[in-house]
Amino acid sequence: MQAIVYHNYGSPDVLQLEEVQKPVPQDNQVLVKVVAASAAAGDWHLLRADPFLVRFMVGLLKPKYKILGADVAGRVEAVGRNVTQFRPGDEVFGDLSECGFGAFAEYVAAPEKAFALKPTNLTFGQAAAVPASAVTALLGLRDQGKIQAGQKVLINGASGGVGTFAVEIAKAFGAQVTAVCSTDKMEMVRSLGADHVIDYTQEDFTQNGERYDLILAANGYHPLSAYQRALRPQGIYVMTGGSTSQMFQAMLLGPLRSKKGGQKMGNTLAKPSQKNLIFMKELIEAGKVTPVIDRRFPLRAVADAIRYLEAGHAKGKVVITVEHNN
Ligand SMILES: NC(=O)c1ccc[n+]([C@@H]2O[C@H](COP(=O)([O-])OP(=O)(O)OC[C@H]3O[C@@H](n4cnc5c(N)ncnc54)[C@H](OP(=O)(O)O)[C@@H]3O)[C@@H](O)[C@H]2O)c1
Repeated sequence: MQAIVYHNYGSPDVLQLEEVQKPVPQDNQVLVKVVAASAAAGDWHLLRADPFLVRFMVGLLKPKYKILGADVAGRVEAVGRNVTQFRPGDEVFGDLSECGFGAFAEYVAAPEKAFALKPTNLTFGQAAAVPASAVTALLGLRDQGKIQAGQKVLINGASGGVGTFAVEIAKAFGAQVTAVCSTDKMEMVRSLGADHVIDYTQEDFTQNGERYDLILAANGYHPLSAYQRALRPQGIYVMTGGSTSQMFQAMLLGPLRSKKGGQKMGNTLAKPSQKNLIFMKELIEAGKVTPVIDRRFPLRAVADAIRYLEAGHAKGKVVITVEHNN
């Protein structure tokens, strides 16, 4: 089969289209014929081993997993003998980030818990856009942010992969949503249901006197003290993405700034779960969430997709379409 392979860490230039062995599913695995994948910031972090800590998880000197790609959608081609949830022909989507990646390929084999049935109202490309970004937004808002209907919720970095899902999920929970993005993305973010949109090139939301019950930072830097200033006395700040230094600040200093019985500050590291994929499938089938697709690239152009994402201005998700010769 064809796959995008990397043998050394580096820029997207190290990615190559190669002929590799088609995987054979183990007893607990599902073999999926990939129709679409999606690229995410995580792919370039792994590709470049940036931050350096990444190497302790995926290979100190060379990448342990040679094929990138966490988010995938496709058709089940075969199942191992212990698989109970899926049959050949099922249309599935999934997150491979805890089972070796490999979505930038014609086929992938992974444990059944990595997949769920694809939302019936989405194309494969749309479905591949969902898993990691939507679940990150969901964990930040629902689990760590304890979102409730009627709350004032602000999403910083609302126009990217995680942020677009965060706006839609917060609206689905009945929140009053303020979205922060740049000028040319305001209309798109408004169309997702945001009640208020702030153009960060014109206004600093941490300085305008508004206070929020929940702030989800999907992208864009502000010091923790500024985020704290924009929180109500019982407000919660959740950092899901942004710069590496911002992540360490939220992780290490967030708990120190949290107050007993008052403001809470911290970060979320997303963990794939089949339960949350199914939760997202239900929100999508109920018409409450629809993925925003920015650009589509063919499998052979994964490097271009990652370069585009690395520039930091994607408008929603970047999808990889996988064509099969047979
Ligand atoms: N915690 C986790 O487990 C987890 C999971 C997934 C992703 N992440 C991280 O989350 C971050 C965001 O991921 P993503 O997929 O949403 O990335 P993305 O799609 O590449 O984000 C791009 C968006 O960020 C916006 N942006 C850039 N600078 C901004 C600023 N100063 N203020 C507001 N918005 C700004 C851009 O808008 P403009 O073009 O308008 O500037 C663009 O729409 C990444 O750092 C990623 O590594 C973390």
